[in-house]
Amino acid sequence: MTRQLHLNLFLMPRGHHESAWRHPRSAPESLTDLQLYAKAARIAEDARLDAVFLADALVAPASGGLVASGVLEPITLLSALAAVTDRIGLIGTASTTYSLPYTLARQFATLDHLSNGRAGWNIVTSWAPNAALNYGLDAEPSHGERYRMAADFMDAIDALWRSWPAEALLDDRAGGRYSDPSRIIPVNHRGPFHSTKGPLNVPGSPQSRPVYVQAGQSEDGRAFAAEWAEVIFTAHLGKDTAQGFYADIKARAAARGRRRDDVVVLPGISPAIGSTQAEADRVFEELDELTSPEIGLTRLTARFGGHDFSDVPLDRPLRVGDFPDPSAVEASKSRAMGIAGTALAEGLTMRQLLQKLAGARGHLAIAGTPERIADVIEDWFTSGAADGFNVMPPVIYEQLELFTAEVVPILQKRGLFRTEYTGHTLRDHFGLAPVAQYRALSAAG
Ligand SMILES: Cc1cc2nc3c(=O)[nH]c(=O)nc-3n(C[C@H](O)[C@H](O)[C@H](O)COP(=O)(O)O)c2cc1C
Repeated sequence: MTRQLHLNLFLMPRGHHESAWRHPRSAPESLTDLQLYAKAARIAEDARLDAVFLADALVAPASGGLVASGVLEPITLLSALAAVTDRIGLIGTASTTYSLPYTLARQFATLDHLSNGRAGWNIVTSWAPNAALNYGLDAEPSHGERYRMAADFMDAIDALWRSWPAEALLDDRAGGRYSDPSRIIPVNHRGPFHSTKGPLNVPGSPQSRPVYVQAGQSEDGRAFAAEWAEVIFTAHLGKDTAQGFYADIKARAAARGRRRDDVVVLPGISPAIGSTQAEADRVFEELDELTSPEIGLTRLTARFGGHDFSDVPLDRPLRVGDFPDPSAVEASKSRAMGIAGTALAEGLTMRQLLQKLAGARGHLAIAGTPERIADVIEDWFTSGAADGFNVMPPVIYEQLELFTAEVVPILQKRGLFRTEYTGHTLRDHFGLAPVAQYRALSAAG
């Protein structure tokens, strides 16, 4: 079968631009209204997209002008979306730093049952500096420590999902046997951060576990992804760094005995679409007019772990000294490095940098006609930069509807994207081998 794109809807209520929530043409529903998410998910499903993805953060926004990336808790919301959709995948974010393996294992196994095998887990270590204070800690664990915690967390939760295979469920009314204890696998995990006896008390789900998604780009992040991730989200402002990341992550996975297709790499793209280039450009102009440098600086400070940029003049080219050493940033290390790198390489002023980030936070934000957007997607897909994209509409529903009605048909006509779902589970959509086969393969190494 010819290689085809994978496309997710990265669903931010009302859109991805930092001022989308106040755009006059954005979704009228409140950000806590299920109907907003249900309508967007159905638009994506009608276009046969692979999945809906919900991000999350465990802190309140630092400014009244900002909307949290997780207005509603993802797993709860996805369970509701499971009831109003049939085929589209449901990927939710949850933290390995501030969650407990047994609880999270129950939540995602339940979501996989309720959705008949459409669950995916975006595994994050939670970079937001103040999240620790919400979980009884005085300070955020360091970047390295968060990844060590994540490795132990994965060992525990993966064992829990293996502990009650579907075939152990008998539901034998006549014989009086609900499960076959001989098939239940003990866990008894004792790690440096987590201990859990097990077994899990939710029977094995259709996929056996959620699809493992991750989005780390630092050295620790890439090592973690090469070991665990099946789908890797990534953020790039240009194709060149995307190609570098793609080649590196595929090589790391291969070095662990995994096949190239066992790892699906999805950069983000935030397309502003118009019937002419000018009309498309106008979309970002309108959004930029609704935001301010103060809002942008608040977000930049968070990305750099609390560093205060307020003394940096807005309208002179940025210098190395304007940034803290990005490699010393304990928050979103790779994103900080990417942002500083681009700003200095392109000779941007602070105002220009904030405008560049306002659109999609370090992901590719691009304006154009449907043909132009399709050309960029095809170019990255065919030149070793992507296996598909996280689509990040700047404004919802308008730009989501334009993408699904105008760009997707072009990609389908070019034979680059499915016209029908061929499977039922999220693993099917991503072309991933069933977990049992996958485990046998990785065990064989
Ligand atoms: C598409 C995408 C989605 C992400 N979603 C979240 C999220 O919902 N919550 C979160 O805490 N971090 C999220 N992240 C951040 C990553 O989990 C990670 O912290 C970041 O990429 C920095 O990686 P590093 O620590 O390896 O440098 C996301 C990153 C990307 C590229």
